[in-house]
Amino acid sequence: MSQDLFDDELELPDRSAQQRLDRLVGLDSVKAALVANAAVLLDPSALRAWSSAAHGSVLPIVETFAERTPLFVLAGDVGTGKSTLAETFAQQVAVDRDINVSVLRLSLRSRGAGAVGEMTRLLGDAFDEVIRRGRGLRSGDALVLIIDEADAIAQSREFGQMHHEDRAGVNALIRGIDTLAAERRPVLVVMCTNRLSALDPAVRRRAAAAFEFTRPDDAHRLEVLSQALAGCGLSSTEIEKLVDLTGDTGCGYGYTYSDLVHRVLPDAVLKAFPDRPITIDVVADAIATNPPTPPFKSE
Ligand SMILES: Nc1ncnc2c1ncn2[C@@H]1O[C@H](COP(=O)(O)OP(=O)(O)O)[C@@H](O)[C@H]1O
Ligand SMILES: [Mg+2]
Repeated sequence: MSQDLFDDELELPDRSAQQRLDRLVGLDSVKAALVANAAVLLDPSALRAWSSAAHGSVLPIVETFAERTPLFVLAGDVGTGKSTLAETFAQQVAVDRDINVSVLRLSLRSRGAGAVGEMTRLLGDAFDEVIRRGRGLRSGDALVLIIDEADAIAQSREFGQMHHEDRAGVNALIRGIDTLAAERRPVLVVMCTNRLSALDPAVRRRAAAAFEFTRPDDAHRLEVLSQALAGCGLSSTEIEKLVDLTGDTGCGYGYTYSDLVHRVLPDAVLKAFPDRPITIDVVADAIATNPPTPPFKSE
Protein backbone atom coordinates (compact mmCIF):
# COMPACT_ATOMS: atom_id res chain seq x y z
CA MET A 1 0.00 0.00 0.00
CA SER A 2 2.71 2.46 1.00
CA GLN A 3 4.19 1.85 -2.44
CA ASP A 4 1.66 4.00 -4.28
CA LEU A 5 0.71 6.20 -1.35
CA PHE A 6 4.12 7.81 -0.89
CA ASP A 7 6.91 9.01 -3.14
CA ASP A 8 10.26 7.23 -2.88
CA GLU A 9 11.21 6.89 0.75
CA LEU A 10 14.34 8.72 1.91
CA GLU A 11 16.65 7.07 4.42
CA LEU A 12 18.74 9.42 6.56
CA PRO A 13 21.59 9.94 7.18
CA ASP A 14 22.36 10.33 3.51
CA ARG A 15 25.11 12.21 1.75
CA SER A 16 22.96 13.83 -0.94
CA ALA A 17 20.42 14.97 1.66
CA GLN A 18 23.30 16.64 3.51
CA GLN A 19 24.32 18.44 0.31
CA ARG A 20 20.79 19.63 -0.39
CA LEU A 21 20.51 20.85 3.20
CA ASP A 22 23.87 22.62 3.08
CA ARG A 23 23.02 24.40 -0.16
CA LEU A 24 19.95 26.12 1.26
CA VAL A 25 20.49 29.85 1.63
CA GLY A 26 18.76 32.22 4.06
CA LEU A 27 17.19 29.47 6.15
CA ASP A 28 19.72 29.12 8.96
CA SER A 29 17.41 30.20 11.77
CA VAL A 30 14.48 28.09 10.54
CA LYS A 31 16.84 25.17 10.12
CA ALA A 32 18.22 25.53 13.65
CA ALA A 33 14.77 25.83 15.23
CA LEU A 34 13.43 22.87 13.29
CA VAL A 35 16.40 20.70 14.17
CA ALA A 36 16.24 21.63 17.87
CA ASN A 37 12.50 20.94 18.09
CA ALA A 38 12.75 17.74 16.10
CA ALA A 39 15.66 16.41 18.14
CA VAL A 40 13.71 16.43 21.40
CA LEU A 41 10.54 15.05 19.80
CA LEU A 42 12.36 12.26 17.97
CA ASP A 43 14.68 11.39 20.83
CA PRO A 44 12.90 12.27 24.11
CA SER A 45 15.37 10.15 26.08
CA ALA A 46 18.01 12.82 25.42
CA LEU A 47 15.84 15.43 27.11
CA ARG A 48 15.22 13.15 30.09
CA ALA A 49 18.92 12.39 30.37
CA TRP A 50 19.72 16.10 30.36
CA SER A 51 17.05 16.79 32.99
CA SER A 52 18.39 14.05 35.25
CA ALA A 53 21.95 15.28 34.85
CA ALA A 54 21.13 18.96 35.33
CA HIS A 55 18.36 18.73 37.94
CA GLY A 56 18.68 15.30 39.47
CA SER A 57 15.27 14.20 38.15
CA VAL A 58 13.01 14.25 35.12
CA LEU A 59 11.27 17.59 35.58
CA PRO A 60 7.52 17.96 34.99
CA ILE A 61 8.31 20.57 32.34
CA VAL A 62 10.24 17.95 30.42
CA GLU A 63 7.24 15.61 30.41
CA THR A 64 4.97 18.45 29.25
CA PHE A 65 7.44 19.28 26.52
CA ALA A 66 7.36 15.73 25.20
CA GLU A 67 3.57 15.88 25.00
CA ARG A 68 3.55 18.56 22.32
CA THR A 69 1.91 17.60 19.04
CA PRO A 70 4.67 16.44 16.69
CA LEU A 71 3.58 18.77 13.88
CA PHE A 72 5.56 21.46 12.10
CA VAL A 73 4.20 23.79 9.46
CA LEU A 74 6.39 25.23 6.71
CA ALA A 75 4.53 27.97 4.91
CA GLY A 76 5.42 30.51 2.26
CA ASP A 77 5.93 31.40 -1.35
CA VAL A 78 6.78 28.89 -4.09
CA GLY A 79 10.41 28.04 -4.72
CA THR A 80 11.69 29.18 -1.32
CA GLY A 81 12.93 25.81 -0.02
CA LYS A 82 9.97 24.40 1.92
CA SER A 83 10.01 20.96 0.32
CA THR A 84 13.80 20.77 0.35
CA LEU A 85 14.07 21.66 4.04
CA ALA A 86 11.19 19.33 4.94
CA GLU A 87 12.99 16.46 3.22
CA THR A 88 16.44 17.17 4.64
CA PHE A 89 16.32 18.83 8.08
CA ALA A 90 16.16 15.43 9.78
CA GLN A 91 19.57 14.69 8.25
CA GLN A 92 21.03 17.01 10.88
CA VAL A 93 19.07 15.25 13.64
CA ALA A 94 20.16 11.84 12.35
CA VAL A 95 23.82 12.85 12.43
CA ASP A 96 23.71 14.77 15.74
CA ARG A 97 21.78 12.10 17.64
CA ASP A 98 23.12 9.08 15.79
CA ILE A 99 19.69 7.79 14.74
CA ASN A 100 18.14 6.54 11.48
CA VAL A 101 15.26 8.52 10.05
CA SER A 102 12.91 7.35 7.29
CA VAL A 103 11.19 10.16 5.42
CA LEU A 104 7.81 9.44 3.82
CA ARG A 105 6.44 12.00 1.36
CA LEU A 106 2.81 12.44 0.54
CA SER A 107 2.24 15.09 -2.08
CA LEU A 108 -1.38 16.09 -2.28
CA ARG A 109 -1.27 18.10 -5.48
CA SER A 110 0.51 15.50 -7.57
CA ARG A 111 -2.04 12.89 -6.46
CA GLY A 112 -4.92 14.52 -8.26
CA ALA A 113 -6.38 15.00 -4.82
CA GLY A 114 -8.94 17.42 -6.20
CA ALA A 115 -11.61 14.75 -6.43
CA VAL A 116 -14.23 14.85 -3.72
CA GLY A 117 -13.38 12.49 -0.91
CA GLU A 118 -10.06 11.51 -2.48
CA MET A 119 -7.96 13.70 -0.21
CA THR A 120 -9.74 12.48 2.89
CA ARG A 121 -9.06 8.88 1.93
CA LEU A 122 -5.40 9.62 1.11
CA LEU A 123 -4.81 11.34 4.44
CA GLY A 124 -6.55 8.56 6.35
CA ASP A 125 -4.48 5.88 4.58
CA ALA A 126 -1.26 7.83 5.05
CA PHE A 127 -1.76 8.24 8.78
CA ASP A 128 -2.81 4.58 9.18
CA GLU A 129 0.41 3.53 7.49
CA VAL A 130 2.58 5.94 9.49
CA ILE A 131 1.02 4.83 12.77
CA ARG A 132 1.60 1.19 11.80
CA ARG A 133 5.22 1.94 10.93
CA GLY A 134 5.64 4.00 14.10
CA ARG A 135 4.61 1.05 16.25
CA GLY A 136 7.22 -1.11 14.59
CA LEU A 137 10.12 1.33 15.02
CA ARG A 138 13.16 -0.06 16.76
CA SER A 139 14.98 2.03 19.30
CA GLY A 140 17.19 4.54 17.52
CA ASP A 141 14.84 4.76 14.53
CA ALA A 142 12.49 7.61 13.72
CA LEU A 143 9.99 8.55 11.06
CA VAL A 144 9.07 11.81 9.34
CA LEU A 145 5.85 12.19 7.35
CA ILE A 146 5.79 15.09 4.91
CA ILE A 147 2.42 16.32 3.72
CA ASP A 148 3.48 18.52 0.84
CA GLU A 149 1.42 20.89 -1.30
CA ALA A 150 -1.19 20.88 1.44
CA ASP A 151 -2.90 24.09 0.31
CA ALA A 152 -6.23 22.44 -0.34
CA ILE A 153 -6.54 21.19 3.22
CA ALA A 154 -4.88 24.25 4.66
CA GLN A 155 -7.26 26.94 3.58
CA SER A 156 -10.39 27.72 5.49
CA ARG A 157 -11.39 30.95 7.13
CA GLU A 158 -11.32 33.55 4.39
CA PHE A 159 -12.98 31.14 2.00
CA GLY A 160 -15.80 31.07 4.54
CA GLN A 161 -18.24 28.72 2.91
CA MET A 162 -15.89 25.79 2.76
CA HIS A 163 -17.52 22.76 1.19
CA HIS A 164 -18.52 19.90 3.37
CA GLU A 165 -16.02 17.63 1.58
CA ASP A 166 -13.15 20.06 2.16
CA ARG A 167 -13.91 20.17 5.83
CA ALA A 168 -13.68 16.39 5.80
CA GLY A 169 -10.07 16.75 4.58
CA VAL A 170 -9.19 19.07 7.46
CA ASN A 171 -10.89 16.71 9.88
CA ALA A 172 -8.99 13.73 8.53
CA LEU A 173 -5.75 15.64 9.03
CA ILE A 174 -6.61 16.63 12.58
CA ARG A 175 -7.74 13.12 13.44
CA GLY A 176 -4.51 11.68 12.05
CA ILE A 177 -2.31 14.15 13.90
CA ASP A 178 -4.11 13.63 17.20
CA THR A 179 -3.95 9.85 16.92
CA LEU A 180 -0.27 10.04 16.09
CA ALA A 181 0.40 12.39 19.01
CA ALA A 182 -1.32 9.99 21.41
CA GLU A 183 0.96 7.17 20.22
CA ARG A 184 4.01 9.07 21.54
CA ARG A 185 6.36 7.49 19.06
CA PRO A 186 9.38 9.16 17.47
CA VAL A 187 7.32 10.25 14.47
CA LEU A 188 7.04 13.80 13.14
CA VAL A 189 4.65 15.35 10.65
CA VAL A 190 5.79 18.25 8.51
CA MET A 191 3.16 20.07 6.51
CA CYS A 192 4.07 22.41 3.65
CA THR A 193 1.65 25.02 2.38
CA ASN A 194 1.88 28.19 0.36
CA ARG A 195 -0.02 30.45 2.74
CA LEU A 196 0.21 30.48 6.50
CA SER A 197 -2.72 32.89 6.79
CA ALA A 198 -5.00 30.42 5.04
CA LEU A 199 -4.09 27.56 7.32
CA ASP A 200 -7.01 26.14 9.25
CA PRO A 201 -6.87 27.52 12.82
CA ALA A 202 -7.43 24.08 14.34
CA VAL A 203 -4.39 22.76 12.49
CA ARG A 204 -2.27 25.79 13.25
CA ARG A 205 -3.08 25.62 16.95
CA ARG A 206 -1.73 22.09 17.08
CA ALA A 207 1.59 22.83 15.43
CA ALA A 208 4.60 22.70 17.77
CA ALA A 209 6.07 25.38 15.49
CA ALA A 210 5.22 27.17 12.25
CA PHE A 211 7.79 28.81 10.00
CA GLU A 212 7.27 31.34 7.25
CA PHE A 213 9.41 31.22 4.10
CA THR A 214 10.02 34.23 1.88
CA ARG A 215 11.75 35.09 -1.38
CA PRO A 216 15.46 35.91 -1.14
CA ASP A 217 16.35 39.49 -0.20
CA ASP A 218 19.35 41.31 -1.70
CA ALA A 219 21.86 39.63 0.61
CA HIS A 220 20.43 36.17 -0.09
CA ARG A 221 20.42 36.68 -3.86
CA LEU A 222 24.00 37.90 -3.58
CA GLU A 223 24.89 34.66 -1.80
CA VAL A 224 23.11 32.45 -4.36
CA LEU A 225 24.52 34.29 -7.37
CA SER A 226 28.09 34.59 -6.13
CA GLN A 227 28.18 30.91 -5.16
CA ALA A 228 26.75 29.79 -8.48
CA LEU A 229 28.90 32.09 -10.59
CA ALA A 230 32.16 31.50 -8.71
CA GLY A 231 35.04 31.18 -11.15
CA CYS A 232 33.22 32.88 -14.03
CA GLY A 233 35.34 36.00 -13.61
CA LEU A 234 32.52 38.44 -12.86
CA SER A 235 33.49 41.44 -10.72
CA SER A 236 31.66 42.18 -7.49
CA THR A 237 30.12 45.25 -9.16
CA GLU A 238 28.77 43.00 -11.90
CA ILE A 239 27.35 40.53 -9.36
CA GLU A 240 25.71 43.48 -7.54
CA LYS A 241 24.14 44.48 -10.84
CA LEU A 242 22.66 40.97 -11.19
CA VAL A 243 21.37 41.19 -7.61
CA ASP A 244 19.51 44.37 -8.64
CA LEU A 245 18.17 42.82 -11.84
CA THR A 246 16.72 39.86 -9.90
CA GLY A 247 15.04 41.98 -7.23
CA ASP A 248 11.68 43.67 -7.57
CA THR A 249 12.13 45.69 -10.74
CA GLY A 250 8.60 47.09 -10.81
CA CYS A 251 6.19 44.17 -10.93
CA GLY A 252 5.89 43.95 -7.14
CA TYR A 253 8.04 40.84 -6.60
CA GLY A 254 11.55 39.57 -7.25
CA TYR A 255 12.96 36.17 -8.23
CA THR A 256 12.49 33.10 -6.05
CA TYR A 257 15.42 30.85 -5.09
CA SER A 258 14.08 28.28 -7.48
CA ASP A 259 13.82 30.85 -10.32
CA LEU A 260 17.51 31.64 -9.86
CA VAL A 261 18.84 28.13 -9.34
CA HIS A 262 16.68 26.23 -11.80
CA ARG A 263 15.82 28.71 -14.53
CA VAL A 264 18.09 31.75 -14.79
CA LEU A 265 21.45 30.12 -14.04
CA PRO A 266 21.01 27.01 -16.25
CA ASP A 267 19.74 29.26 -19.03
CA ALA A 268 22.87 31.43 -18.69
CA VAL A 269 25.01 28.32 -19.11
CA LEU A 270 23.07 27.28 -22.21
CA LYS A 271 23.30 30.77 -23.69
CA ALA A 272 27.09 30.73 -23.30
CA PHE A 273 27.65 27.13 -24.35
CA PRO A 274 29.36 26.07 -26.60
CA ASP A 275 31.31 28.99 -27.99
CA ARG A 276 31.58 31.81 -25.46
CA PRO A 277 32.22 32.34 -21.76
CA ILE A 278 29.61 33.33 -19.16
CA THR A 279 29.67 37.11 -18.87
CA ILE A 280 27.45 39.68 -17.18
CA ASP A 281 25.63 40.21 -20.50
CA VAL A 282 24.89 36.50 -20.84
CA VAL A 283 23.44 36.31 -17.32
CA ALA A 284 21.50 39.57 -17.76
CA ASP A 285 20.06 38.11 -20.96
CA ALA A 286 19.03 34.95 -19.10
CA ILE A 287 17.38 37.11 -16.44
CA ALA A 288 15.48 39.08 -19.10
CA THR A 289 14.19 35.92 -20.80
CA ASN A 290 13.11 34.28 -17.50
CA PRO A 291 10.81 36.59 -15.55
CA PRO A 292 10.17 35.82 -11.85
CA THR A 293 7.37 33.44 -10.89
CA PRO A 294 4.32 35.37 -9.69
CA PRO A 295 3.52 34.87 -5.99
CA PHE A 296 1.17 32.05 -5.10
CA LYS A 297 -2.51 32.96 -5.27
CA SER A 298 -5.31 30.71 -4.14
CA GLU A 299 -8.04 30.28 -6.67
N1 LIG B 1 16.55 28.83 0.31
C1 LIG B 1 17.09 28.28 -0.79
N2 LIG B 1 18.41 28.34 -1.01
C2 LIG B 1 18.94 27.78 -2.12
N3 LIG B 1 18.23 27.14 -3.06
C3 LIG B 1 16.91 27.05 -2.89
C4 LIG B 1 16.27 27.62 -1.75
N4 LIG B 1 14.95 27.38 -1.86
C5 LIG B 1 14.77 26.70 -2.99
N5 LIG B 1 15.94 26.50 -3.62
C6 LIG B 1 16.11 25.77 -4.87
O1 LIG B 1 14.86 25.64 -5.50
C7 LIG B 1 14.47 24.28 -5.61
C8 LIG B 1 12.99 24.15 -5.31
O2 LIG B 1 12.76 24.44 -3.96
P1 LIG B 1 11.60 23.77 -3.11
O3 LIG B 1 12.19 23.28 -1.85
O4 LIG B 1 10.87 22.78 -3.95
O5 LIG B 1 10.67 25.03 -2.84
P2 LIG B 1 9.16 25.09 -2.34
O6 LIG B 1 8.81 23.75 -1.80
O7 LIG B 1 9.18 26.17 -1.31
O8 LIG B 1 8.34 25.48 -3.53
C9 LIG B 1 15.35 23.53 -4.63
O9 LIG B 1 15.65 22.25 -5.11
C10 LIG B 1 16.59 24.37 -4.59
O10 LIG B 1 17.49 24.00 -5.61
MG1 LIG C 1 7.36 22.46 -2.50
